[in-house]
Amino acid sequence: MSRSKSSKRWLREHLSDPHVKRSREDGYRSRAGYKLREIQQRDRMIRPGMTIVDLGAAPGSWSQVAAELAAPNGKLIAVDLLSMAPIPGVEFIQGDFSDRTTLDEVLNRLAGASADLVISDMAPNMSGVKGIDQPRAMALAELALDLAARILAPGGGLLVKVFQGAGCEEFRASLKAGFATVKTRKPEASRARSNEMYLLASGFRGQNRESPD
Ligand SMILES: C[S@@+](CC[C@H](N)C(=O)[O-])C[C@H]1O[C@@H](n2cnc3c(N)ncnc32)[C@H](O)[C@@H]1O
Repeated sequence: MSRSKSSKRWLREHLSDPHVKRSREDGYRSRAGYKLREIQQRDRMIRPGMTIVDLGAAPGSWSQVAAELAAPNGKLIAVDLLSMAPIPGVEFIQGDFSDRTTLDEVLNRLAGASADLVISDMAPNMSGVKGIDQPRAMALAELALDLAARILAPGGGLLVKVFQGAGCEEFRASLKAGFATVKTRKPEASRARSNEMYLLASGFRGQNRESPD
């Protein structure tokens, strides 16, 4: 399909999408918030008082949902390449998470404390070429896992977006090495045509055991 045809189709779908309409009414910054809400309804991975790191946070609907659910006394650190308008209770770091300085800034904000949950909705800018997009997407998922293995408290969790395709099964195997359970989630709010899905890893085995590679 030509680029202009596919962008027209995207616009048509976007304008008639019930989640897009609902997100305007509910005050969420994008429809993506409903994906996190659906997973939360099923798995209850976010609880009040948790320390959560949100990777690929802009424009901010996952941070909005997570901050609501972690209140009171939760701590939320959000990271994105792009700027993000402030959200009460969310500390935002603008930077490329593949840069060491951005990782260091996350560690600074944690000030030696561990986190309970890492959520990553990071996705590369899609070129439309699978051989380019898939390795980029898997590299972002690997970065999220590296952070999780470094900062999570034992028992902690990681929710990470992946795209079905090359590298996905190896990545799932890495999660299984580091966590007690790994579930696959494809929320209804995730477009059926998209091959995105989410892996929810729970029960982090702890940093002193063999860490996931
Ligand atoms: C699907 S959007 C996230 C939507 C967000 N979860 C929400 O609810 O509003 C993916 C985000 O990943 C970010 N991203 C991609 N690569 C990144 C990187 N290397 N470092 C930080 N953010 C990145 C993009 O800038 C984009 O904002």
